[in-house]
Amino acid sequence: MKSFHIVILLFGVTLVLTLSSLQSGETITRKQNIDSLKADRDMHKKRILASIAGKERLPADSVFENIEIFKGVPAGQLLNIMDIAFSQSLGVSCGHCHNTKDFGSEQKNEKKIAREMWAFAAQTRDLLKNVKSLKSEKPTVNCTTCHRGQLKPALSLN
Ligand code: HEC
Ligand code: HEC
Repeated sequence: MKSFHIVILLFGVTLVLTLSSLQSGETITRKQNIDSLKADRDMHKKRILASIAGKERLPADSVFENIEIFKGVPAGQLLNIMDIAFSQSLGVSCGHCHNTKDFGSEQKNEKKIAREMWAFAAQTRDLLKNVKSLKSEKPTVNCTTCHRGQLKPALSLN
């Protein structure tokens, strides 16, 4: 093998190694980010659950301050909706929509958007009924359908 062949080979190997280590670095950062969001959500949930101990099965509107869309939903269940449907589907923690010192507060615009998005998703489910040729028994749409763990739903595959 000529020496310039060896140089090119070494260059290639270094490039591949650098690229793969960059990629795994990104994966680790993303994972750490997801884990720290989870830890934050768990901490808030635990604190709120402790503060409503014994009232988990009562309607959310009799336990919490500003319930409009989840009237009648058991208070404990509301926290699961908050964790899974609202936070995980958007890839955020509670503080994205809440002042975490006062969850009943209406000061954050994102909380208002989330209520409007709830209505928007329900309208989208209704519109889906117009797609008559679908074979699924119960086709549906929820927050994850569009958001898939991101605040801004994707407009392209890249
Ligand atoms: C995407 C926005 C969003 C995220 C993220 C979110 N929430 Fe909410 N949360 C809302 C909305 C909207 C309401 C009001 C629901 C209604 O009108 O019935 C609410 C209501 C609540 C309430 C009732 C407060 C009261 O006194 O009225 C609690 C408690 C709560 N959320 C906890 C959480 C926790 C804990 C998390 C994180 C695990 C979380 N939320 C994440 C939007 C969000
Ligand atoms: C049919 C698709 C679709 C569904 C279903 C949907 N969203 Fe959205 N959502 C969007 C789009 C599009 C935007 C605007 C993104 C932008 O600003 O460019 C958005 C924006 C948002 C934002 C503002 C993002 C930010 O930057 O803070 C929040 C919060 C949100 N959605 C919450 C929800 C929640 C909660 C649900 C389920 C109840 C939901 N969305 C269901 C499409 C959807």
